[in-house]
Amino acid sequence: MRHERNGFAELEHRSGVEPDEVLALFYGKQADGVRATLVAVAKPSLTRAVEVFVHGFCFGRSIKHPYEAQKIAELWVLRDAPGAKNPRKTEVIAHGIVPWRVLTKISELVPEWHFVCHMYGPEESGEQIRAGYKAAGYRAIATEWTFGHDLEGIPEVASDPPVRRVLDPADAGRIAKAAGGRQIRDEDLLAEQPKQRLYTVMDSCTTFGWVSSIPIGDAAWVANLFVDKRHRGRGFGRALMSKLLLDDRQNELAASYLMASSAGRRLYPHLGYEQIGAMQIFCPAKRPEKTL
Ligand SMILES: CC(C)(COP(=O)(O)OP(=O)(O)OC[C@H]1O[C@@H](n2cnc3c(N)ncnc32)[C@H](O)[C@@H]1OP(=O)(O)O)[C@@H](O)C(=O)NCCC(=O)NCCS
Repeated sequence: MRHERNGFAELEHRSGVEPDEVLALFYGKQADGVRATLVAVAKPSLTRAVEVFVHGFCFGRSIKHPYEAQKIAELWVLRDAPGAKNPRKTEVIAHGIVPWRVLTKISELVPEWHFVCHMYGPEESGEQIRAGYKAAGYRAIATEWTFGHDLEGIPEVASDPPVRRVLDPADAGRIAKAAGGRQIRDEDLLAEQPKQRLYTVMDSCTTFGWVSSIPIGDAAWVANLFVDKRHRGRGFGRALMSKLLLDDRQNELAASYLMASSAGRRLYPHLGYEQIGAMQIFCPAKRPEKTL
């Protein structure tokens, strides 16, 4: 959200509040004149979404081997911690910085194979961003959409079987089998303050779907919503998200963020999420040949 009022940007800058976090400018009449007070509230903001995405994504990828986020210059660089047998590709997250500058920084700082995830708000042109990377020989791979929820007005959605939180290692094992990889660490299943909560819809024979909430500070990152292809369109996606959000609110979190695929993009507004931005993913057109 950008404000066009004269002088507003300067006021925001001075108060240390990011423009997209500002919700209200209150005016109050006092004995010595009219005073304006800038009030920042935890309205879902893209700036916050970037941080929650970076840390939530790294946490989710760290189940096997630590995957770390490092802020280098104006970029977030996400990569395997040293010691990985087959290091996964590096992800560079850019926000609020123009493509040519991102690429200059990458050429100085990221020698290995990488993807660039460029996050932007509604006031920026996705076409211009794409043109910037393409001109430098990068290939556009995908677009995802950034959604935020202020945890107000969550619809209660039931399903049959009902959604439940996964607390039993045997259930976590069934989900791992269906997903082709572990979705949660054992220590988070029963922890009093878990770093992740995993939810599922399953009965004694079938695992219908799952989703995770990963708290990052006062917000939550939504990871890996998935419903088995054979059981889509039966309301499991909505029911999983509804339970996850109600528990986020119960846990006194202030917001929930996620990155949506095109199927997810249609689902999340039903739950009260608002689209606050988008992310385009690029990779260098040529993969460097492996050297011995
Ligand atoms: C997205 C997904 C979780 C939805 O699960 P689901 O159980 O089918 O969802 P629901 O039955 O609760 O559907 C809720 C809404 O989602 C939307 N939706 C669901 N599947 C969709 C699809 N394939 N294409 C477009 N919209 C879809 C619809 O708007 C639907 O609302 P409607 O019933 O009023 O039309 C499921 O399609 C999936 O697992 N997809 C692959 C993984 C993925 O994309 N995950 C989301 C990551 S952000």
